[in-house]
Amino acid sequence: MSFQPPKGTDDIIAPQSQAWRKTLRLWDDWSERYGYPLVNLPIFEATELFERGVGETSEVVTKQMYTFADQGGRSVTLRPEGTASVVRAYLNSGHQGVWKGAYSGPFFRYERPQAGRRRQFWQVGVEYLATPSPLADVEVIELGYRFITATELPDVALLINSIGDQVCRPRYVAALKEYLREHESRLSAESMSLIERNPLRVLDSKVDGPELIEAPRTLDYLCEECAQHFTSVKEGLESLGVPYKEDSSLVRGLDYYTRTAFEYVATGLDAAQNAVGGGGRYDGLAEAIGGRPTPGVGFALGIDRIMLALGELQLPHLDVYLVSETGPLDALRVASNLRDEGISVDFDVDGRSVKAQFRTARRLEVPVILVWKGEGQPLDVQTEGERATLPLREVSTWFNSR
Ligand code: HAM
Repeated sequence: MSFQPPKGTDDIIAPQSQAWRKTLRLWDDWSERYGYPLVNLPIFEATELFERGVGETSEVVTKQMYTFADQGGRSVTLRPEGTASVVRAYLNSGHQGVWKGAYSGPFFRYERPQAGRRRQFWQVGVEYLATPSPLADVEVIELGYRFITATELPDVALLINSIGDQVCRPRYVAALKEYLREHESRLSAESMSLIERNPLRVLDSKVDGPELIEAPRTLDYLCEECAQHFTSVKEGLESLGVPYKEDSSLVRGLDYYTRTAFEYVATGLDAAQNAVGGGGRYDGLAEAIGGRPTPGVGFALGIDRIMLALGELQLPHLDVYLVSETGPLDALRVASNLRDEGISVDFDVDGRSVKAQFRTARRLEVPVILVWKGEGQPLDVQTEGERATLPLREVSTWFNSR
């Protein structure tokens, strides 16, 4: 067949997909433990939501959106991120007061594809709305950190910064612009074009960023409230034993952030895609999309990148392969019995030879092969280095005691 998946998209199938499933289960578990109920939101939204919410100077909006007119002539966009939609959903719900939500699903950005930088990618994330408390920032950052640790990703660093708010940021932006103009001759054309539009992004530039260590630092310009907020966030993380590094060049790519900004970086990946997740506070987003003032904080993690950093994990998706010596109808019944006990089982429905059934079992690399020999007879149990026989009614007890 000549069709391929579209550029920048992937078919995620077994055996790799089992590691995805395990990671997404872990996400459901951890986000639930921290009290974030599921939010399932539209995959496309009115284009204006992202223009106003994410910000018209961000690269995501200017260069990366999948935007098209639907049959009714409305401009819609495949969601490039989740926060604007979550805030929209909260405002639409009419709910008053503190609100939490967790999401998991595909997102779309027209990027130059490479490993860990896809046009369709999977994010999991949370948003904690309607509280300005720095403890909300701490809880959110801790959840991301604990979840990433639970995936067993090695070498993850948490970077944090504060980028101020509408009170202190203008003063910082003015100082930064002045510095950048003075050093224009050292900057790339791309960075020069950003000085007036979005000077913070210059700090984040892969080319010029490292050259700008002398540039003014956001932390030196924070107003009293922002500085206090940042101190409380750091104290909270310290009290939980979550290790972090302060990074004054961390500014994030979306325009809605205020105060806290953070990223989880997998130090084993290439610098271009080593941010496995990021987030921050966005106290002005709700108003930017026409809602009542609603502070919020959250993060999203890139599952494609986490899987890349974990390496080629090939986990079996089955506990048991059932080989039947008496044909597929018996196997269907026995498998149903085992599935009822919570064991994941598969078998051959085509009535192939016992030898062929064993070949399939080996190809699937299942940890246990059970051989059904007929009514009233015990099953053969074959695992690596172990062979036994067991009556059907004892299989699940044996299985659970392994
Ligand atoms: P973001 O930093 O744009 O933030 O994306 C979060 C994570 O999604 C990134 O760190 C990365 O792991 C993954 N990601 C982004 N783009 C791609 C891509 N093209 N291919 C693969 N992975 C990608 C946000 O989206 C914010 N909404 C996070 C947030 C939530 N802030 C507050 N609440």
